[in-house]
Amino acid sequence: MLLIPFLLLLSSLLLIINKLAIKKGKLPPSPSKLPLLGNLHQLGAFPHRSTWELSKKYGPIMLLRLGSMPAIIVSSAETAKEILKTHDLECCSRPPLTGPKRLSYNFQDVGFVPYGHYYREMRKICVTELFSMKRVQSFQSVRKEEVDLLIKSISESATPANPVDLSKGILSLTASIIFRIALGKNFQGSELDNDKLQKLVSEAATMLGSFCASDFFPYVGNMIDWFTGFHRRLENTFHELDAVFQQIIDDHFKSGTTMHEHNQEDIVDVLLRMVKDQTENGAIHLTKDHIKGILLDIFVAGIDTSAIAIIWAMTELARKPTAMKKAQDEIRSCVGNKGKVADNDVSQLKYLKMIIKETLRLHPPGPLLLPRETASHLKIGDYDIYPKTRIAVNVWAIGRDPDIWNNPEEFIPERFEDGVIDLKGQHFELLPFGAGRRICPGMNMGMAVLELALANLLYFFDWKVPSGVEIDMEERVTISLGKKTALMLVPIKYNIGEDDEIMHC
Ligand code: HEM
Repeated sequence: MLLIPFLLLLSSLLLIINKLAIKKGKLPPSPSKLPLLGNLHQLGAFPHRSTWELSKKYGPIMLLRLGSMPAIIVSSAETAKEILKTHDLECCSRPPLTGPKRLSYNFQDVGFVPYGHYYREMRKICVTELFSMKRVQSFQSVRKEEVDLLIKSISESATPANPVDLSKGILSLTASIIFRIALGKNFQGSELDNDKLQKLVSEAATMLGSFCASDFFPYVGNMIDWFTGFHRRLENTFHELDAVFQQIIDDHFKSGTTMHEHNQEDIVDVLLRMVKDQTENGAIHLTKDHIKGILLDIFVAGIDTSAIAIIWAMTELARKPTAMKKAQDEIRSCVGNKGKVADNDVSQLKYLKMIIKETLRLHPPGPLLLPRETASHLKIGDYDIYPKTRIAVNVWAIGRDPDIWNNPEEFIPERFEDGVIDLKGQHFELLPFGAGRRICPGMNMGMAVLELALANLLYFFDWKVPSGVEIDMEERVTISLGKKTALMLVPIKYNIGEDDEIMHC
């Protein structure tokens, strides 16, 4: 009589034990942990640096426990290839927003979605409609006008004794370009000026991108976040952003495309047209919340990243005058006395392109890429990685791997002379834009801004470090990795003379 329940109990127990054993599997190496905190205390203020140091001891794939969250950190080109190519499908989800970040606004997490039908449709819109090469080219005049304005403002303040705040000028350049591309205008001089909108976006980005207690401790964390005021700050920021985005959409409805600068469709126009024309053909149903979400993603992902890259490039060049001079010689002999560098000159500037690669190797604006999460169990070598594990790919560390790069800490653009390595996510030793299904959709847009801005800054001016000053290389970690202090350089206007004829190209 008792045999059947006994056998049932035994088989259930065996099943549980078996499951637990499978669950344990062979996990990647892991530094020792503290109770509750896990490895949180080891991250410090610069997670790309602390995890790089840990990886030297624990290997190119290691498992950390951040509070209650398991996270793998990938620090070599080979393991990055495993994650971003071989296992891209299992690793291309973003972790869902939780705790206070799950606000009642429906647009805050458009970019933070699991990989699936919805994500693929949104991505298609971005890649084919918003950031296609054709559209990047169609915004050529916007880039040109904004770069002209930056050069003009620097020219006006240029005196041999007067350093300019290049960081400020460059950030305002990329913000103006992205606002005009997305919204058809910038807000300079209006009640909501560029600086205010940019600060609002940056606050939203920092809050969504930074860790809060609920990320690591689901229950207690929520209470801590209420207590620290994180909830209220986030709610207020999104309340303001929602109102601004709504106003922008309403204005577009009122004015129609023909009222915009150059009669050109901006990104809100394109999206509103898609909302109007949509048919039930299996595509997602686009709403105003999607438009707000896409705007937020573009502002968050597009403004700071491009500015940071330009600022680091100018910083490295200011520290290495031979490279600066070589770049200027190339640009000036290619453009001659034409009076400015245009988009179509840039394709000839080989050394400038090497400078950009070298800058993004040493200073990728997203050092750990954006957070990903495994959707299912996978194996990397012998190691088991379980579903819902965070993934961070340390492209900053990979860019410094001494097995790949000679003198990795040195700024040597010539290392890219043979042109073999590109930035498009096929060469896993250089991944500033990521790779695979989640690769940055704004890469072409970002590169176009970077190249044009740098080429013109180097064409029009010689740049000097103010005397007695040593350039500070300290980093600032927000959602991206920028230069902490403003880059102050003295611009010396270069005289573009009659004899500056086009020498080659
Ligand atoms: C130098 C400039 C830029 C750099 C270095 C950069 C880098 C990145 C990186 C590393 C990612 C994450 C990729 C991954 O997880 O594998 C990303 C995502 C993204 N970027 Fe960029 N980016 C730049 C410029 C731009 C621009 C100009 C835009 C838009 C106008 C943009 C829009 C986006 C969006 C929407 C995503 C999220 C994609 C997704 O979640 O699927 N980025 N970017």
